[in-house]
Amino acid sequence: MRRIPLVIDTDTAQDDCIALLVGLLDPRADLRAITMVAGNVGFERQVLNAHLTLSVAGRLGEIPLYLGCRRPLVREWVSAEYAHGDGVGGLTMDFEGLAPEREHAVDALIALAAASPGEITVVCIGPLTNIAMAAIKDPRFVADVKALVVMGGSNNARGNITAAAEYNFYVDPEAAETVFHAGFASITVVPWAPLTLADAVFPRERLAQIAAIDTPLARFYSRVVETTLGFNESVGIHGSTHPDSLAAAVLLHPEIVTAQARYAVDVETGSHLTRGYAAMSWGVHGLEGNATVVESVDAEGFADYLVTLLSTDTVPSRALR
Ligand code: BDR
Ligand code: CA
Repeated sequence: MRRIPLVIDTDTAQDDCIALLVGLLDPRADLRAITMVAGNVGFERQVLNAHLTLSVAGRLGEIPLYLGCRRPLVREWVSAEYAHGDGVGGLTMDFEGLAPEREHAVDALIALAAASPGEITVVCIGPLTNIAMAAIKDPRFVADVKALVVMGGSNNARGNITAAAEYNFYVDPEAAETVFHAGFASITVVPWAPLTLADAVFPRERLAQIAAIDTPLARFYSRVVETTLGFNESVGIHGSTHPDSLAAAVLLHPEIVTAQARYAVDVETGSHLTRGYAAMSWGVHGLEGNATVVESVDAEGFADYLVTLLSTDTVPSRALR
């Protein structure tokens, strides 16, 4: 089997953890590194959440974890703790002696891409700060990367943190704008709406099925999605949302995509009201496409894929409690 070399750039909380599990456990994935970016919850909390995820997968110490930008390019950081809590449902473990790599994530991204030109795909599941910084710091990064899979924006549909904007693009719109103008050879966008809301929401019946599996991974899953599930239900979303793990799955299993198209994607940076809005033009406005936007996936196939993944019987590197 041809394995796919990837790096996951993450703001680790809730579904970011599940996306990391996809990268850690899917036999098709050759996960070269995890890079951390400011996003969902406090930066240090995100690092602990990544360690917890590595541990439950039994891979602690095997995958380098690099710390990246601790705030957006020009804006103040905006937390999503109101939706995610600590991002892991209160799980903890012994963190003694665990240290991330010393190299900054932006330099690591540049170096990893340069070491394997045309091979590495970066799955970007947080604000795009690290990716924009890497492109600004060393333009060869843009040429060296094979592809980006970006979770962000909505495709002519509603946002989540505001009516207009999805969280990752809202938090660092200048970074998102930079990335879509940087000239990457391939960008695939996995948007929040309508895609995630239509095809990657697990209702309570599905969550009960996962809880019944009773592996360390399934127990971990049930805890990390708990807080967001409560938040989602309070805003009319009937289940657990999985945009980040869907982005990882789309890279490793493109056959789950049932519709996608070329779009000209740009991001609003000037407005207050529509900050971070993703303008996705579908080919009739005379604009050249710069990204492929996933429009629908095999929702059942994706859910079955995650259920199978969570059924893997791992031996956690350190006990979670
Ligand atoms: C995105 O924002 C985060 O809260 C999720 O992890 C996902 O990356 C969805 O808008
Ligand atoms: Ca995320």
